[in-house]
Amino acid sequence: MIFVTTHPATIGINRERIIGEVSPMLFGSFAEHMGRCIYQGIYDPDSPHANAQGFRTDVLSAMRELGVSILRYPGGNFVCTYDWKDGVGPRSKRPSRRELAWRQIEHNDFGIDEFIDFCREVPCEPMLSVNLSTDNLRSLSELVEYCNAPAGTHWADYRIANGHREPHEVRNWCLGNEVDGPWQIGQTDAITYGHLAREAAKIIKRHDAKNQTILCGSSAPDLPTYPAWDSTVLDIAWEQTDFLAMHHYATNWENDTPSFLAYGIALQQHIDTIAASIRQTKTKKQSKHDVKIAWDEWNVWYKDRSSHANWTTAARLCEETYNLEDALVIAQWFNLFLRRCDVLKIACLAQIVNVIAPLKTTPSELLKETIFYPLVLFAQHARGQALDLQIQSPTYSTIKFGDAPLLDAAATFDVATNKLAVFLVNRSMSDPLPVQISCEGTAIEKFDHNSQIAGRDPKAINSLAHPDTIIPHNVAAIMLEGRVAKLVLPPLSFTVLSGIAKG
Ligand code: AHR
Repeated sequence: MIFVTTHPATIGINRERIIGEVSPMLFGSFAEHMGRCIYQGIYDPDSPHANAQGFRTDVLSAMRELGVSILRYPGGNFVCTYDWKDGVGPRSKRPSRRELAWRQIEHNDFGIDEFIDFCREVPCEPMLSVNLSTDNLRSLSELVEYCNAPAGTHWADYRIANGHREPHEVRNWCLGNEVDGPWQIGQTDAITYGHLAREAAKIIKRHDAKNQTILCGSSAPDLPTYPAWDSTVLDIAWEQTDFLAMHHYATNWENDTPSFLAYGIALQQHIDTIAASIRQTKTKKQSKHDVKIAWDEWNVWYKDRSSHANWTTAARLCEETYNLEDALVIAQWFNLFLRRCDVLKIACLAQIVNVIAPLKTTPSELLKETIFYPLVLFAQHARGQALDLQIQSPTYSTIKFGDAPLLDAAATFDVATNKLAVFLVNRSMSDPLPVQISCEGTAIEKFDHNSQIAGRDPKAINSLAHPDTIIPHNVAAIMLEGRVAKLVLPPLSFTVLSGIAKG
C-alpha cells in the first residue's frame, strides 16, 4: 500500500507545442582504446562469444538493444598521441607502441578498418576523432583519403589492398579532443586551437562537402576557460564547423544523494549556456550557417578514475559500477536531450563497454549495468518530435541546487505512428509523487507499453551474481479518463508511458 502525502505534480501536453525533431543520432556511444573497451570489450578473439572477426557478439546484441546509432572512435585522450597508420595493414606488421594518454601498450590489432567493420555489424554510423595534437594536417588529409576516396590514389588503393574495396564513407569528424584540458597532450589556448581546427576542417570538407566537422568545445564547465573558450573557437571556425562538442561527467563525490538526484539542473544550465554561445556567435556574424551541438561524451563518472595502465594492454581502467541513483541521473540526462533536441543533434555516451559503460564483460559473460535500462527505454520509445510540456511540480530542498522540482519529465510524439511517450523521474528518496497528465486537443486510447525502474536503495547495483536487481518492470496502476491520466510515481523511480493518441 502506497500512502501519498505529497501534492500532485501536473503535466500539460499539447502535441502542437513542438520543440524539434528527435535526431536518431542522440542514441550514440563511444569506443576508446582505453582499458578494456576495445580489447576484451568489443574485440576479443579468445572469447567464446567472438565471431569470425573477433567481435563480441553478445556486446553487438546489447548495442542493438541500446539502439546505438553512431559510434565515436578511437578517443578521447588516446587520439592525441595516436598514429592512425599504425592500425592499418597486415596485423603482423603493425607496431606495438607506448600509448601516452593512459600509459598502455597499444599493439594495434584493432584499427580503423576493424572499427568500420564493427560499425557495419552493429549497424551504426562511424564518427572518427583525429589527432590535432602530435600529428599533422598532411596525415589528416591522408586519413580522409584512406577512408573515403574511391580507387585510384595512393591511400585509397592502400585501403583496397587491405581488403576494403568500397570507401568507408565516414561523414563525422571530431577535430581533436579536449585540447583545453591541462591533462591533454597538445593542450593549447582557444585562439591557437580555433585556427588549427579551422584549417583541419577545410581539409576534411575539401575532400567532400558532405563531411561534417565537430569542433572541441569546453571539456568541462568547471574549467577556468569555460565558456569563453566556446565563443572564441566558434568565432574563428564558425563557417567550417557543423557541431560544437560538449563533454560532461556527472559526479557525486560528496555522497549527497538528494543533490545528485537533481543533477539535471546543472546539465540544463550547461547546455543552455552553450546553446546561447552558439546563438550569440550566429547573430554577431549575421550568418546563415547553423552550428548544432554534439554532446559526444556524457555519463556519470567518479567512482573509478584509475588512469595509469602501467604499460600493459587491456588493464582494468575506470570500470565504474553503476547504481540506481546513477540510472536516475542518466534518465534525466536523456529527458534533457529531448527538451533541447532543437540544438542537440548528436550524443555519445562515454563509453560503450567496460570503461565507464553500461556493459561489462568477462571472457564468457556480459553484465548489463543499471544505466543500461533507462537507455534502452529511451531507444525504444523516444521517437518523432519532442514536446514542450507545461509542468508544475512540488519541490524539495537540496544543498547544491536549492529547491529542486521533484518531477523531471519529457515527452515525444511520433506523427507516423501516433505514439505518445512520456518520460518521468521522481527525484524523491522517500515519497511517492502523484502525477496528473492532461492532454490538450488529443486523448490517449491507452498506455500500452509502460515500464518503470525503481528501488528503495539508491546505491543498489546489478552484478553477475544478481544481474536483475535494477531492471524495468510493468507499471500497473494508471487511471485513464479521456484526456487525463493519473498515476503515482514511487520514490527513486523512472517511468515511461507509451500509447496511441487519437483526436
Ligand atoms: O572517456 C574517458 C576520457 O574522458 C576521454 O578519453 C576524454 O576525452 C575524457 O576526459
